[in-house]
Amino acid sequence: MKKFLVNRRKFLRSFFYTLISLQVVYVFVRLLKIKKPQNTQSDFYEAGDISFFENGKMYPFGSAHFFLHRFEDGGFIAVSSKCTHLGCAVQLKADSQLLECPCHASVFNNKGEVLSPPASRPLDYYPVVFENGKVLVDIAHPVRRTKFETTQIKYT
Ligand code: FES
Repeated sequence: MKKFLVNRRKFLRSFFYTLISLQVVYVFVRLLKIKKPQNTQSDFYEAGDISFFENGKMYPFGSAHFFLHRFEDGGFIAVSSKCTHLGCAVQLKADSQLLECPCHASVFNNKGEVLSPPASRPLDYYPVVFENGKVLVDIAHPVRRTKFETTQIKYT
């Protein structure tokens, strides 16, 4: 009987310590999630002065992997250069202002919409903001989409 009590005591102590350990891990994980860094200004890529970008033109930013298009009405959209088929880098055809993938020939328009498969969804886009006369692109947070919507265009 005494041996049973000792084992039971050991079991309860182990159970108690395990429970406390799990709670400590849970609290630690919650704290890590809470301290997740917010979107700071340093996450944004400074594309340039708003006035630099002409209406109706597309501008490549190869090192940052996006194209910035300014529509005829002055709105901006930043589309990723990563093809949504298998991830090759699409290229701007200057004469047509279309984006073509060199790997399997998908073609996208200036909004990132698919004009020619095999890609089946539009290019991701990046949030655009304006500050102190500059166009800033949030290249850390690409937005996956299934279709183009006018809300994806940003105006000054
Ligand atoms: S990776 Fe672009 S069409 Fe296949």
